[in-house]
Amino acid sequence: MANSIEKRKPSLQERMNDAMGNAVDKTQSSQAWNSIFRPGSIFRKGYTDSPRNRSYVVMNSVLYHLHPVKVKRHAVKVSYTLCLGGLSFFLFIFLTVTGIFLMFFYRPTAAAAWDDIATLQTSVAFGLLVRNMHRWTAHLMVLSVFLHMARVFYHGAYKAPREFNWVIGVMLLQLTLLLSFTGYLLPWDQLSLWAVTVGTNMMGFTPVFGEQVRFVLLGGTQIGAETLLRWYVLHVLLLPFVIVIFMAIHFWRVRKDGGISGPL
Ligand code: HEM
Repeated sequence: MANSIEKRKPSLQERMNDAMGNAVDKTQSSQAWNSIFRPGSIFRKGYTDSPRNRSYVVMNSVLYHLHPVKVKRHAVKVSYTLCLGGLSFFLFIFLTVTGIFLMFFYRPTAAAAWDDIATLQTSVAFGLLVRNMHRWTAHLMVLSVFLHMARVFYHGAYKAPREFNWVIGVMLLQLTLLLSFTGYLLPWDQLSLWAVTVGTNMMGFTPVFGEQVRFVLLGGTQIGAETLLRWYVLHVLLLPFVIVIFMAIHFWRVRKDGGISGPL
C-alpha cells in the first residue's frame, strides 16, 4: 500500500502547485525582490512565524509599517468606529481628485471665474457632474468629520492618553470648515459674494485683532478681486497642505496611543 502511494504520479493540479511554489520561492530569493522588500529573507521558506519576526517585517517595510503589529479585535469592528475617521479621509482624497479636475477649467480672476464655472457646466465633458460631486463631497466631509468627533466623544476616546489627538482633531475640524468656506467664494456668484461678506464682517467684530484679520483675508477693506485670489490660494494650496500635515500627525497618534481605544 505504502509503495503504491510513493509511486503515484502527481496530478496536473499538484504539478502546477509545485511549479507555482517554486516560482514564488525563486522570486522571493532574487536580488531584485530583496532590494525592494526588506528584510527579504523573512519571506523565504522556513522562517518561523513568531511575534518577533512579525514585528521585524512590519517595522522594516514602508507599506506594512502603516499598520500596527497587532490590531485589537474590537478595533476592526465596523460597529465600533463606524469607519467615520476613515470615511472622512476617503472624502478628503475624493475632494482632492475632483478638485484637480476643476482646476483645469477655472481661473481665479474677477473677470473669468463666474464664466469659467458656467462654461465648465455647459461645455466640458462631465463638468457639471464633477462640480456637483466636489460640492456634495465637501458637505459630506463636514458631516462625517462632525459625526466622527461625536463618536469619539461618545466612547470617551478623548481621555488619556488620547487628549493630544483630540486637540489635533479639533484643528482638523477647523481646517475642514475653513476649506469648505474658502471654496464657497470661488464660483464668484451673488450667493458666494454675500456669504463671504457676512462671514468676514462677523470676523471683524472679534476683539483686539478682528479688524486686522478681516483686512488680511479680504486683501482690502471690502470684497474684491484680491479676495478671490487669496481665497483660491488658501483653498487649493495652503489649507490642503496644512490639513495633510495634521492628518499625518493624527494617524501617527492613533497608532502610538495604542490603536483604537477599547469599549468602556
Ligand atoms: C479631517 C478630519 C479627520 C480625519 C480624516 C480623522 C481620521 C481618523 C481616523 C482614520 C481614526 C481611526 C479610526 C476611527 O476612530 O474612526 C481617528 C481616530 C481618532 N480621531 Fe479623528 N479624524 C478627523 C477629525 C477628528 C476630530 C474633529 C476629532 C475630535 C475633535 C478627532 C479625534 C480623534 C480621536 C481622539 C481618535 C482616537 C479614537 C480612538 O482611539 O477610539 N478626529 N481619526
